[in-house]
Amino acid sequence: MAARSVTDLDLSGKRAFIRVDFNVPIKDGVVGDDTRIRASLPTIRYAFDKGATVILASHLGRPKGKPSPDLSLKPVAERLAQLLGRPVVFASDSIGEEARRAVEQAGPGGVVLLENLRFHPEEEKNDSGFARELARLADVYINDAFGSAHRAHASTEGIVHHLAQSAAGLLMAREIEVLGRVLDAPERPFVAVLGGAKVSDKLEVIENLVPRVDALLIGGAMAYTFLKARGVPVGRSLVEDDLLDAARAIERRSAASSLRFELPSDHVVAAKPEAGIPAETLRVEDPAIGDRMGLDIGPATVKAYRAIIAGAKTVIWNGPMGVFEIDTFASGTIEVAKAVAEVKGTTIIGGGDSIAAAAKAGVTDRITHISTGGGASLEFLGGRTLPGIEVLKG
Ligand code: 3PG
Repeated sequence: MAARSVTDLDLSGKRAFIRVDFNVPIKDGVVGDDTRIRASLPTIRYAFDKGATVILASHLGRPKGKPSPDLSLKPVAERLAQLLGRPVVFASDSIGEEARRAVEQAGPGGVVLLENLRFHPEEEKNDSGFARELARLADVYINDAFGSAHRAHASTEGIVHHLAQSAAGLLMAREIEVLGRVLDAPERPFVAVLGGAKVSDKLEVIENLVPRVDALLIGGAMAYTFLKARGVPVGRSLVEDDLLDAARAIERRSAASSLRFELPSDHVVAAKPEAGIPAETLRVEDPAIGDRMGLDIGPATVKAYRAIIAGAKTVIWNGPMGVFEIDTFASGTIEVAKAVAEVKGTTIIGGGDSIAAAAKAGVTDRITHISTGGGASLEFLGGRTLPGIEVLKG
């Protein structure tokens, strides 16, 4: 069953609560990459053009249920106002009198951004009292936060039970459509490239992808948990020792299937991830790594991964191959980005770091779909039902 769409709602004169994912990088009070903000503009514009009072709500970072000035959404309100070319009323709380006053002040056709939802611990607990408080601000609910659809929180799930009407926003609908096509009938070979720091973040996703994809290429720090599980010397590379058994189990499952499960064969090692530090390329089994750490995949791995990616008809990529923010360790990630861009088929990139890496490689325009969901897109493609989408179907 499909989720209802915002275009099915009568928004005229209504207060529309739109859950967006404005979890964007902020430095010194200024928004860095604003991809996620831009991605929700069509839904926001659609709602105020139809005469709704637009109430936007998001989380930012992980403030652990307490207000934290560094994680205020105020800078986002400023950036959003610039992008929309109209004022955005910022409410310094997401519930209560302060929020209600801001909604009244904005009025029909106006836009309010509520303060970080996660300043209240009840948000992540999906507390029904908090969900009811959020719902009291509005008449209808729209979820455009695909990036948070894998979270069953008060603003993504609970609130729906307290409002008569709910629907998916335009961004949410587009993500479901594009990723849904890949989930249902991927053109093969279907290759997943996974990187980033932690296996724990992606363990379940990897398990779900094993039976679905034809090749799984692993890079980034997460490769070292698998390499250590194989008994390879990893020096001081990042390893999650409590996941060594899980890593072995994944390798066993892959070996028993027709999946190509690939780990780096060489890497760039250095004493620490720092610009200008001396670095050396070694085979992964070379004990010369000593007490250094692996910080990028090496040229032989790039060549092998490029060849597999080149033969693919569908590629999903999430997570960098190394510390690409530092030029010495950027080459593996940049080369993978270029290889993905050259694929003649469907290519999907998700996760803030991979999106930034694609931009650094200058290939963003050549990717079929840049997903605003990192964890959410992987969970979706792994076949899991996402609570934030499921609840819109009821
Ligand atoms: C993301 O950036 O993946 C989403 O905004 C979800 O954030 P979370 O992992 O802190 O829930």
